[in-house]
Amino acid sequence: MTDIADLIEARFGLATDAGRGDAAAGTIGQILGRRSYRKYTDQDIGEDRRTILLAAAQSASAKSDLQQYSIIDVRDQAVKTRIAELCATDWMGVAPILLVFCGDIRRAQRICEMRGKPYAQNTLDSFMNAAVDAALALQSYSIAAEASGLGCCPISQVRNNMKEMTELLKLPKGVYPVAGLTAGIPAETRDVTLRLPPAAVVHRDCYVDENLEAEIDTYDRSRHAIRPTPPAGQLKTDEYGTADFYGWSENAARRLSAAEGRAGFRKFLETHGFDLE
Ligand SMILES: Cc1cc2nc3c(=O)[nH]c(=O)nc-3n(C[C@H](O)[C@H](O)[C@H](O)COP(=O)(O)O)c2cc1C
Repeated sequence: MTDIADLIEARFGLATDAGRGDAAAGTIGQILGRRSYRKYTDQDIGEDRRTILLAAAQSASAKSDLQQYSIIDVRDQAVKTRIAELCATDWMGVAPILLVFCGDIRRAQRICEMRGKPYAQNTLDSFMNAAVDAALALQSYSIAAEASGLGCCPISQVRNNMKEMTELLKLPKGVYPVAGLTAGIPAETRDVTLRLPPAAVVHRDCYVDENLEAEIDTYDRSRHAIRPTPPAGQLKTDEYGTADFYGWSENAARRLSAAEGRAGFRKFLETHGFDLE
């Protein structure tokens, strides 16, 4: 029988006794074994299930109960296709479910107006609260969707073309895309992706990273042993060449060595209703 300890070991590639003998069922087992899926069957996802999952998204906690996010449930095939083009991600256009989770300070502004009060919180903090609210709603949706047998994948590429994306979705000032989410019945097999060792991420009482190099080295080797990255999967080989040992950290460093093409994000937000002060 697979137990919770087995799932933790599979998640980190490290031995543990935590959860030994605990059945790998229920929410914890599901979260420990989760992975992203990007290919789906074309099986229809009924309206009932869609409604339930969106209700789960809205059940996430939200800063000061302000619920500063909106979800665009994209059904129009022409809009889906255009989103897939803007994101250069063709599978978005054929995913049975395509949602765009947005940070939204407009609703709060309108409510202040409706109640005859000034709106005094157009700040960087509000921008972040809205992003966090949207992300928690996305995660609640994903957990519920995975519990109901669907596979999901968040997509940050919805931020690649902010102007076109906001025009396409008619997002008014104060509303911006945080991440897309595709979902459907998985039509592919995916492995669990190893996570960084807890020692590199979880700090007891205060932040300590003096062992980072050794921890990353171990992590790189664990991932390489399970799934080495062939030359074809390596980034920026023109610049950095191909490597026999191409660890997670090499991939991360190559990815981070150039801008992601979203350099105008701040400027866009400033023209789209955000003060960011
Ligand atoms: C905020 C966010 C944005 C993401 N954006 C993309 C994306 O644009 N394209 C993509 O293929 N995967 C995207 N992902 C999925 C990650 O690549 C994936 O979670 C990661 O590789 C770990 O794999 P796992 O989820 O299967 O454990 C995103 C995930 C998050 C949380």
